[in-house]
Amino acid sequence: MKLIEVQNYDEMSKLASEIIIEQVQTKANSVLGLATGGTPIGMYQYLMKDFTQNKTSYEQVITLNLDEYIGLDKNNPQSYSYFMKEHLFNHINIPENQTYLPSAKSVHDEEAGRNYEKLIESVGGIDMQILGIGENGHIGFNEPGTSFSSTTGIVKLADSTREANARYFTKMEDVPTHAISMGISTIMKSRQIVLLVSGVKKAPILNQLFQTDVNENLPASILKKHPDVTVIADQEALSILKEKKGSVFS
Ligand code: PGA
Repeated sequence: MKLIEVQNYDEMSKLASEIIIEQVQTKANSVLGLATGGTPIGMYQYLMKDFTQNKTSYEQVITLNLDEYIGLDKNNPQSYSYFMKEHLFNHINIPENQTYLPSAKSVHDEEAGRNYEKLIESVGGIDMQILGIGENGHIGFNEPGTSFSSTTGIVKLADSTREANARYFTKMEDVPTHAISMGISTIMKSRQIVLLVSGVKKAPILNQLFQTDVNENLPASILKKHPDVTVIADQEALSILKEKKGSVFS
């Protein structure tokens, strides 16, 4: 993993947007793996700004999101489908039928994961996957303990994940209990991965990520085995790692 240290959220967002813009400018029909959550919002804002100012075109781009809640309608403002329209798709020139999110009718919809895998394969695989990391180390919604060989499918959300995401819902009971998520092996097939880490809440997990061996209790640790991962982390996220003796900085 290559680590790029930045000052703050804004710098992380800008740099991540520049990496995506370069990807799209180099390969007009890029397949981008996208993420939701608080972390990538600033990056999406920079992409929109660049679209307005420089007209970078997304006409041939295909996007595949990491995950989606089960049980929320696409028009529910808390759904990731809605999030993506609101934060990116409605503001750039990507055709709607080239933007994909996994979706499952119910927690028993086993076909849904297989279909998403086939879809990813049919578009030639993901060129660049953007990732965030959960405070518990999850990537996508692959919670600690998930097999590294997992493929896209239905997952049960950890209590800590539901609590972390409760801020977007009126009450805890409204936070879905399950989601459909790209699997860990699916994510690992992406040709290039960019992991964004910002804020003091992510400092403990970022420290663990760099200090511990690859193991299934820390899903993001598998990224150490990928040949092309760039971690962009800000000072708050790096605060514990940097104070540790023997860290990557010593
Ligand atoms: P966040 O979520 O960007 O809202 O912190 C990241 C994640 O849970 O993967």
